[in-house]
Amino acid sequence: MANASGLFSPAVPSLRKQIYPSISIYRSDLISAQVFTKRVVCSSTIELGSGLSPSESRLPKIVSKGCKLVGCGSAVPKLEVSNDDLSKFIDTSDEWISVRTGIRKRRILSGQESLTDLAVEAAKKALLMAETDPDDIDLIILCTSTPEDLFGGAPQIQKALGCKKNPLAFDITAACSGFILGLVTAASYIRGSGFNNVLVVGADSLSRIVDWNDRGTCILFGDAAGAVLVQSCSSDEDGLYSFDLHSDGEGQRNLNAKMKQNEVDDGLGSNGSALGFLRRRRPSSYSAIQMNGKEVFRFAVKSVPQSIESALGKAGLTSSNIDWLLLHQANQRIIDSVATRLEIPAERVISNLANYGNTSAASIPLALDEAVRSGKVRQGQTIAASGFGAGLTWGSAIVRWG
Ligand code: ACO
Repeated sequence: MANASGLFSPAVPSLRKQIYPSISIYRSDLISAQVFTKRVVCSSTIELGSGLSPSESRLPKIVSKGCKLVGCGSAVPKLEVSNDDLSKFIDTSDEWISVRTGIRKRRILSGQESLTDLAVEAAKKALLMAETDPDDIDLIILCTSTPEDLFGGAPQIQKALGCKKNPLAFDITAACSGFILGLVTAASYIRGSGFNNVLVVGADSLSRIVDWNDRGTCILFGDAAGAVLVQSCSSDEDGLYSFDLHSDGEGQRNLNAKMKQNEVDDGLGSNGSALGFLRRRRPSSYSAIQMNGKEVFRFAVKSVPQSIESALGKAGLTSSNIDWLLLHQANQRIIDSVATRLEIPAERVISNLANYGNTSAASIPLALDEAVRSGKVRQGQTIAASGFGAGLTWGSAIVRWG
């Protein structure tokens, strides 16, 4: 599996010794420091069994593959809510919100709309751009912290797309870092497990878990979905140059949407008696988003540039080598601060949060999709993408588009 250092490290020794004596594993960093290429090359004599999708095969396998981003799509709800709209029912103003955050409006799910519908629409657009049939998908990863089913929403995308081969589908919960984690997970499945087409969908509806009376948080968020198709290619063409991932549970106090405290206490207070437990236990519910905005701001402007610099270093690049900086769209002041620290001029920074606010796991693929479709981001260009948020979690990936 991939690890947080951005290097790919399959559990090869046991495979080599116990199962496949013919596998030859070659890690460039073990051979010589001079030829260390930041990417691990694995080669194998094992091919997939014919007729079996990667998720169906029972044989462990190591393959020599790269991955690239070949399609993207996005979808937003119809209802647009401006800062002026918000100021009619909470004590705020367009000026306060736009000056402090850069946000002017956001989209909010309403009526019959569902997050799953948005996710499916985004996924279909990505598949269309990639000219890939839903039947060829091996894995669907839904990055979300607001699934419409707590057991996971990804299989519903699989169902709606009509993927006939029952590809694996699961969720990743990491709030605003979710899409970066999904991307790296997709790459790991492709590089290490023989998967060919992995759909990574970031979709969130934080409007459903925010307290609309809390002006410190509700003005920030919007709902959306974005998707990227990650496809296998030769290792020479690999388009995920490096990554850098972190989490810090200590920071949870500054940003969370926890199970309600009385329900945690009820569970603990049953004294191990079945009767006490049964009398007290009800279906759990969660608190609205709790955030110490200043602390999250401080964390972001410190950790994000460090993470991007670390990822760039692993790829042997500097910020002057990248074409685009694409950050999680949380606050324009965070984006500006990170860009300044990395000495990346405003014209190479992607930003669309004025129109959508913070859409959590959807924000990076949504902004990417707009930038690709408008012709801003072109085939072959290098993007430094970084997500950060609840957990706390944060991470960066240096990728090539196309
Ligand atoms: N309208 C008007 N006034 C407001 C509003 C509002 N919407 N919200 C707060 N205020 C007031 C406060 O009450 C306070 O008033 P006071 O000075 O009289 O006490 C004053 O404005 C300043 O409030 P702060 O909270 O200190 O404002 P700050 O400059 O820190 O901006 C903000 C708040 C925009 C939330 C900022 O801290 C921020 O963007 N933080 C980062 C949030 C983030 O990026 N989250 C990303 C992850 S989200 C996720 O993962 C789910």
